[in-house]
Amino acid sequence: MLRILVLHGPNLNLLGTRELGIYGSVPLDAIDADIVKLADELSVEVDVRQSNHEGELVTWIQEARSGYQGVIINPAAYTHTSVAIRDALAAVNLPTIEVHLSNIHQREDFRRQSYVAGVTLGQISGLGSAGYLLALRGLHGHLTARRPKKEPSSKMATSPRRARRR
Ligand code: DQA
Repeated sequence: MLRILVLHGPNLNLLGTRELGIYGSVPLDAIDADIVKLADELSVEVDVRQSNHEGELVTWIQEARSGYQGVIINPAAYTHTSVAIRDALAAVNLPTIEVHLSNIHQREDFRRQSYVAGVTLGQISGLGSAGYLLALRGLHGHLTARRPKKEPSSKMATSPRRARRR
């Protein structure tokens, strides 16, 4: 079974009470319940954690090297500051999707820069809590996609498509 680590960064434990106009009224435990429900439907095992500490997030990312096939992370404020989280994601080299509830590109200038974006598969920003579910579907699709095997060059030369083109 696929195992995916879902990480929420600092202050996301306050969702539901925090800046409601920006982050909405859905509390973190409700978001987590929806993630677990979708994971069950997809037959994926998810491990969902939140921390207000950069080092703890780094340690969890490092630990994902054994036993996990992908990561979904909302690094929250560390998105815009943390070389350590970026380096940890680069080191473990697991397919990772970055999620933000708000659209970080429409807010203050300092939020436009993501230190982690350069080492992730993709970013979902501005779709509220649905972003986590889209990330889970996307990562599941990525991890289960059948990738075409490279054909030996001699076979390619005689493939019907090539023949028709001549
Ligand atoms: C956030 C956006 C960050 O800029 C902010 O620091 C957060 C939450 C989001 O989900 O929209 O705490 O990551």
